Amino acid sequence: MAAETHRSVALTPRDEQLERVPQHVAIIMDGNGRWAVRHGLPRIEGHRRGVEAVRRAVRSAAEVGVRYLTIYSFSAENWRRPAQEEGLAADITGLLNEAEELTRANTGLNLVVAFNYGGRQEIVRAVRAIARQVKDGRLDPDDIAMETIAGALDTQGIPDPDLVIRTSGEQRVSNFLPWQTAYSEFVFLPDFWPDFDDAAFKGAIGQYVSRDRRFGGLSAKAS
Ligand code: IPE
Ligand code: IPE
Ligand code: MG
Repeated sequence: MAAETHRSVALTPRDEQLERVPQHVAIIMDGNGRWAVRHGLPRIEGHRRGVEAVRRAVRSAAEVGVRYLTIYSFSAENWRRPAQEEGLAADITGLLNEAEELTRANTGLNLVVAFNYGGRQEIVRAVRAIARQVKDGRLDPDDIAMETIAGALDTQGIPDPDLVIRTSGEQRVSNFLPWQTAYSEFVFLPDFWPDFDDAAFKGAIGQYVSRDRRFGGLSAKAS
């Protein structure tokens, strides 16, 4: 996963570019705390400002024509943090349920919120569910395929992310969608999440569009 410098690429609505717009963008929204510290504010203020960046990201994604936007909002490991940050997380559960109800009939962008999420924990749950089917005689171990595993994950029915964006300069996955990102493109941006804006989103999409995805095969350009 090589880092690339962030550059803005104006998206023109040329057909070949529109075709290459990622269907699914996943974002590791990192750097709220450091943003706050840099501004002499409590960490919690960074999280508040981060919510505004989420709104901007949703708008940008819808505008570009992305079908799925997944945001990593709180990891299973984030419970290691002080209770002040946990409290915020508990509030969000209610809001998420409410938002899910309100938007049930909507079409257009699908927003997936990875909350209290851990990729390895998700795989453990999937393996347990599959093992139960084998134990009950409903599944032959020889019939376990990649689709069986994908179908037992929380993301069942959602295409794998084409593009993963992480802000704040960290270049790691932090237990985010380890199965689903096997062939995703990664863009690492130096800015902290509360500063994430439409230009940053479109810059990342521009980088994605210029990438050559080979999936182990040969470049379409070379063949
Ligand atoms: C991302 O910002 C939000 C969550 C992980 C909940 P951080 O809170 O991780 O901010 P930094 O990385 O400490 O700056
Ligand atoms: C990853 O960020 C989790 C979210 C953005 C929700 P962290 O800030 O928790 O990741 P680490 O601890 O720096 O790897
Ligand atoms: Mg962080």
